[in-house]
Amino acid sequence: MKRNSDSITPAFGSRYMTDPIPKHRLPENSMDPRAAYHLIHDELQTQGNPTLNMASFVTTVMDEECDRLIAENLGVNYIDTEVYRANLDIQNRCVSIIADLFNAPDLDRAWGIECVGSSEAVMLAMLTHKRAWQERRKAAGKPYDNPNIVMGNDVHLVWNKGCVYFEIEQRLIPLHPDRFTITADEVMNRVDENTICVVGVLGTSYTFDYDPIKEINDALVGFKHKTGIDIPLHTDGASGAFIAPFLNPEIEWDFRLEQVKSINVSGHKYGLVYPGIGWAIWRDVDDIPKSLVTETNVLGFIERSFSLNFSRGGAMILAQYYNFIRLGREGYTRIQNTMRENARYLAKGVREIGKFDILNGGELTPCCCCKLKDESKYNAADLVGTLAQKGWIVPAFSLPPAAQSVNAMRMNVKETFSRDMADILIKDIRNAIDKLEAVHHKPYAKVGTHHH
Ligand SMILES: Cc1ncc(COP(=O)(O)O)c(C=O)c1O
Repeated sequence: MKRNSDSITPAFGSRYMTDPIPKHRLPENSMDPRAAYHLIHDELQTQGNPTLNMASFVTTVMDEECDRLIAENLGVNYIDTEVYRANLDIQNRCVSIIADLFNAPDLDRAWGIECVGSSEAVMLAMLTHKRAWQERRKAAGKPYDNPNIVMGNDVHLVWNKGCVYFEIEQRLIPLHPDRFTITADEVMNRVDENTICVVGVLGTSYTFDYDPIKEINDALVGFKHKTGIDIPLHTDGASGAFIAPFLNPEIEWDFRLEQVKSINVSGHKYGLVYPGIGWAIWRDVDDIPKSLVTETNVLGFIERSFSLNFSRGGAMILAQYYNFIRLGREGYTRIQNTMRENARYLAKGVREIGKFDILNGGELTPCCCCKLKDESKYNAADLVGTLAQKGWIVPAFSLPPAAQSVNAMRMNVKETFSRDMADILIKDIRNAIDKLEAVHHKPYAKVGTHHH
């Protein structure tokens, strides 16, 4: 019997290792699963290491028990609610838990939905505000073709996308070289009867600072009483909305504030779940115009839907619920606090190097954001390029206008970043600086822009 070399050494000794991997067209023939696994697995080793990725807010580890739960439920389709009733039920429990965490005044009236991430949640919130405004204007016999949203240049790019996709004027408030959030006065100078909502960011993507959402709310309440124009406030809590409730419950940014009608949060950031899961939560189900809710009975039962997608995986909902019941308030508080303590420690070490100004030292959020005091010989991009030789992924970017003269380096601290890792990173930053000081006379690399 002719022995097939592919079955003797199915992965590394097989012809699949010497043949080119099929890249652009479906291959004619099949392949041994072990070879397919290794071809893909090994290629992935060339990309960044999630543990050393200080750029991302996104969760990279969960408990083994949760991994098992996810693996067991990879075949569950979220939208098949009649079949996967428990999944739907668990989603609704998560919505209730989050709405309660965000201090919704009436849990029976609050409404929410699981999304792919904060981006989808933001898009849905924008749609509800636009449609609600249009319906109010129509009913009053007023023009409804020129909606705007007021927000700072500190918003995530998803807001720019949404404004383009949904044809909404984006009224952007410039930042300042020494202030990276917005003020209530700056908001109020831009609102008018065509403002469908104002956005406050709880944890910006640039420096992880909080906009003064309570002050913006209070100014909008004053405006409502004076003019009769009732402008809703949306809190983009993509990263901060799972931090502030545990670490600074006294800060008001949520449904305790009268004008806050909708909030988004990423489950896959500080909700401590793998990507992609986010949540859109409304204070009151009536904040979602009925005209946006579709009904189908294609699956043999009446299904109401307000989402951008139909079919998708339901396993991350289970992972979010797992965290809620496994960690509870106690566990979330401990983990978020540990991360913030380590961010503060990192910021202290970076400050002691003597070459940096600290823009965010982990006062409120688990983040160390800094800038070089002197960029005449090397810049932030040169520095992060040198750090990359050690595997660290640290983003360097100019802040949005009009703070674009500031080249920031932002290090997000996640669960996997221990005190020991902080020591290693501080040492690597010191060594990188020494290296650059020795060889550089002018900056070489170009600092990226992270914005609009
Ligand atoms: C403030 C803010 N809003 C929205 C988003 C988009 O979130 P996601 O990546 O979950 O879609 C991010 C992502 O970092 C963010 O920081």
